[in-house]
Amino acid sequence: MEQMIDHIKSWLEEAGEKIKSSQQTLTISQKSNRTDLVTNVDRNIQNFLIEKIHSYDPEAKILAEEEGCNKLSDLDGRVFIIDPIDGTLNFVIEGENFCIMLAVYESGVGKLGFIYDVMRNELFWGGKGIGVYKNDKPMPRPANKSLSEGLLGVNSYLFGHNKYGIREIAESSMGTRMYGCAGLELAAILKGNHIAYISNLSPWDYAAGNVLLEEFGMVTSGLFGTPLTFDRREYYLAGTPCAYAEIADLLKKEG
Ligand code: IPD
Ligand code: CA
Ligand code: CA
Ligand code: CA
Repeated sequence: MEQMIDHIKSWLEEAGEKIKSSQQTLTISQKSNRTDLVTNVDRNIQNFLIEKIHSYDPEAKILAEEEGCNKLSDLDGRVFIIDPIDGTLNFVIEGENFCIMLAVYESGVGKLGFIYDVMRNELFWGGKGIGVYKNDKPMPRPANKSLSEGLLGVNSYLFGHNKYGIREIAESSMGTRMYGCAGLELAAILKGNHIAYISNLSPWDYAAGNVLLEEFGMVTSGLFGTPLTFDRREYYLAGTPCAYAEIADLLKKEG
């Protein structure tokens, strides 16, 4: 395991260097709509990580956001789950507030998770039974704060449309935050800065974060407590055990 961790860290560092040196030469295209973008950098980083994974473990399966690898029929065996750039809109517009995410699952069980905030040089990583680290330092387990004691991360669409009564839930918190980058929202829970995150996510958006959150005793699931499917985009809830239970009680079932 240690050897694999060292390999993954070195791939991420190299990928981060590639991103920093390629921001001047962006080719941007639309996917499903004008705010759903992909760039040459997303694709290049995905290809780079896939090549590294395959030369390290030719048997491993890969699930990754961009074209070519975004469907798997099952999670049997070792699966690497990649989001080459999480927060592509931030990457394109802000040049910061994005991350690279990579997770390793063994037959559906999360073993390792990595969230790399490239521009801040912060790598959140760890795994089942090994703790959670920021760069070289072990992170303390966040306190089990309630909804009224902390900040709530939300997806802007869900908040804007007040889906499931999310605005009333947000009013019970200390305040609402929208980072536009699922990985950094989940890292904010790891740091104890946020108490929960409500969103609409694909497997590569939550795979790495879930491993780290679960190692810290945080709770993650579909919005209404269902297990995450890892095969589609779905509504998502993660939080401290206390905030998670309160939010689950307050969510209004609707369309
Ligand atoms: C998106 C971001 C965003 C979240 C979306 C994700 P992408 O990922 O994490 O914050 O609200 O659901 O799809 O497309 O930038 O990798
Ligand atoms: Ca995307
Ligand atoms: Ca993403
Ligand atoms: Ca992405």
